[in-house]
Amino acid sequence: MGFKFDLKICSNYPIGVFDNLEKNIEWEEILKRATHGHLPDVQAGIDASIDEGRELVEQGIATENADVLDLGCGNGRQLAGLVNTGIRSYTGVDPVIKSIQFCNRELASRIPFARFVHLNVRNRMYNPKGKLSPEKVVLPFENDSFDSVITGSVFTHLGTQMVCKRYLEEIARILKPDGKLFSSWFRDPPFKVCSEEARTVFTENDILRMMAKHFEIYYSRGGSSGEWYDQWCLCSRLLKVTDS
Ligand SMILES: C[S@@+](CC[C@H](N)C(=O)[O-])C[C@H]1O[C@@H](n2cnc3c(N)ncnc32)[C@H](O)[C@@H]1O
Repeated sequence: MGFKFDLKICSNYPIGVFDNLEKNIEWEEILKRATHGHLPDVQAGIDASIDEGRELVEQGIATENADVLDLGCGNGRQLAGLVNTGIRSYTGVDPVIKSIQFCNRELASRIPFARFVHLNVRNRMYNPKGKLSPEKVVLPFENDSFDSVITGSVFTHLGTQMVCKRYLEEIARILKPDGKLFSSWFRDPPFKVCSEEARTVFTENDILRMMAKHFEIYYSRGGSSGEWYDQWCLCSRLLKVTDS
C-alpha cells in the first residue's frame, strides 16, 4: 500500500493521436501535445482515476487479493486508482501496441503486480490493421482467470452488437464464478443509436438484453445527461451456471 503514482498519464486519448502514431512519434510526446479530449493536467487525470478506483472498491470490483483485467486499458490510467487497493494482480490489454509498450516501460517496470498484453484485434479507429477479427476474438487467457474485468469506454467503440456479444461471452469465460464486470456504454436515450467505432450507441433495451445473457446488473450511474462523454456505467456479476 502507499504506492505514489507519479507517472505521466492522461485521462483520455489526445486528439490527433492516430496521426501521431502513424508518424511514429513517442507516446509521451503525443500526450504532451494533447490539447483536447483529455485532462491536460496530469495530476487531475490521476485524481480522476483515483476517484474511479474508489468506486470500483465500493462496488466490489476491486477487492482485496483480486486478479483484475483492464480490457481496453489504453494508457493504463486506471491503474492509478487500483494500485493501492490491495488487489493481487492487474493485467491491461489493448490493441494499440504503442500504448502497451508505453505501459510496460513506464508502469509494469515499477509495479510488480502489473502487466500489459497486446491484443492485435482490429478496430477501425484504434487499430485498423489489426489481424484478429473482433467478432471472433479469443481473449488470451484461460477460463476462470480473473475476479474482475474492467472495460471503461470500450463497448462505446466496438461498433456492432455482434462484437459486443462476443466480448461479453469471452469476459464471462475468463471470469471466475461470481466474477464482476464494470462496463460503460453510450445509450439511446439520450443519444442516438450509432454503429460507428468512433462512438457506438445502443438502445437501453439492447444493452440490457446483451448483458442479461451472462450478467446481473447491481449498480448503475450516469448515461442520461446528454453530455458528450456521459456514459452509462454498469457494475454486474456473472450469473451462476445452472444445470437444466
Ligand atoms: C476511450 S479508450 C478507454 C481507455 C481506458 N479504458 C480508459 O478508461 O482510459 C478505448 C480503448 O478501447 C480500446 N479498444 C478498441 N477496440 C478494442 C477491442 N476490440 N478490444 C479491446 N480493446 C479495444 C482502444 O484501443 C482504447 O484504448
